[in-house]
Amino acid sequence: MSDFVRVATVADVPIGTSLKVVVKERDIALVNCDEGVFAISDICSHADVSLSEGEVIDCTIECWLHGSQFNLRTGAPLSPPAIFAVPTYEVRLVAEGDVTFIEVASEPTPVTNDGAK
Ligand code: FES
Repeated sequence: MSDFVRVATVADVPIGTSLKVVVKERDIALVNCDEGVFAISDICSHADVSLSEGEVIDCTIECWLHGSQFNLRTGAPLSPPAIFAVPTYEVRLVAEGDVTFIEVASEPTPVTNDGAK
């Protein structure tokens, strides 16, 4: 079972931006879009570059190197050249006083083969 690690506050990741964090030596991109805060592997599945340096478009993140977009909910690539999904991580928001913290599961969400994109 995965535990959760506090990595940032919501104020650290304004809507439309992403932030790289490290959880148990895994690079993770926190992404805040209109639908909430998501966490996916920060490493593009096409080549070893940082997705958090890409552009947030709707609720996807676009890799800055070759332009593949990834679904933030499933990690699935929505456009080439990437063909493999990136791991996703469960996120929970914890409010304490005036501050809302972002906590990320320490283990990736198990992949299902339901074809969801
Ligand atoms: S390195 Fe990300 S799409 Fe090529």
